[in-house]
Amino acid sequence: MTAMIDVQGFTKQYGDFTAVSGLSFTVQAGEVLGLVGPNGAGKTTTLRSIAGIIPPSIGTIRIAGHDLLADPIGAKRQLAFFPDEPRLFDYLTVRQHLAFVARLYGVIDHEAVARPLLEEFEIADKADTLPGELSRGMKQKLAIACGLLHSPSVMFFDEPLTGLDPLGIRRMKNSILQRARAGAAIVLSSHLLHLLEEVCTHVLILKRGARIAHGTLAEVSAAFSNGESGVSLEEVFLRATGGSEG
Ligand SMILES: Nc1ncnc2c1ncn2[C@@H]1O[C@H](COP(=O)(O)OP(=O)(O)OP(=O)(O)O)[C@@H](O)[C@H]1O
Ligand SMILES: [Mg+2]
Repeated sequence: MTAMIDVQGFTKQYGDFTAVSGLSFTVQAGEVLGLVGPNGAGKTTTLRSIAGIIPPSIGTIRIAGHDLLADPIGAKRQLAFFPDEPRLFDYLTVRQHLAFVARLYGVIDHEAVARPLLEEFEIADKADTLPGELSRGMKQKLAIACGLLHSPSVMFFDEPLTGLDPLGIRRMKNSILQRARAGAAIVLSSHLLHLLEEVCTHVLILKRGARIAHGTLAEVSAAFSNGESGVSLEEVFLRATGGSEG
């Protein structure tokens, strides 16, 4: 089976600073990979690169079989990237955002696609509201609804749970799980490790731009267990990263 996400030898330098070095991993359809690591470990850098926002310095990235550098349009049609600080258009309402993004992606009958997304993310009653009058969590939900309009099969979320209320977190977790079950391949970063344990099939721990652990939750837990069973991801994280800065 070809991986939906295939990252090989990814390195990113900002000037002479190496933010991520030699990272390789694959994500299959239906898998959810949690990217974890201390502040500055390179999570956002990795997500931005594999989503085609910033170019890698070295390495190849394939999205649903499309090489991100050689065939960026083919790759980007298949993916959605949800940044930690979504940017919205100040003078477009919620409804107008969805219509605009639908046009960019050539989504046919976008109102029929948008309506259930507005319901799912509970912003249907704000359809005619401008971003300036939305709460932080609502803006995040609008950005996610926009990103899902073209039914991506690969999704990258940078800290999708931060800033949501408890019910919002539960719904976001369900939305992610539901899309993975439907066959999407998903990578998300988060510092909320107990929540990651509930949505991820796999985790990759980064420290100072290097991979220090990767596998299923059970494999990563076993690797840092010191013989104990059922070691939590939080405990694994602390042991793996030594509690020092990324
Ligand atoms: N545009 C940039 N120019 C130079 N250095 C950068 C740039 N963006 C990020 N960095 C550096 O790259 C490293 C990784 O940053 P990144 O944002 O990827 O970390 P992160 O794992 O997402 O951290 P956090 O948990 O705080 O979100 C940091 O040392 C950061 O200072
Ligand atoms: Mg980040």
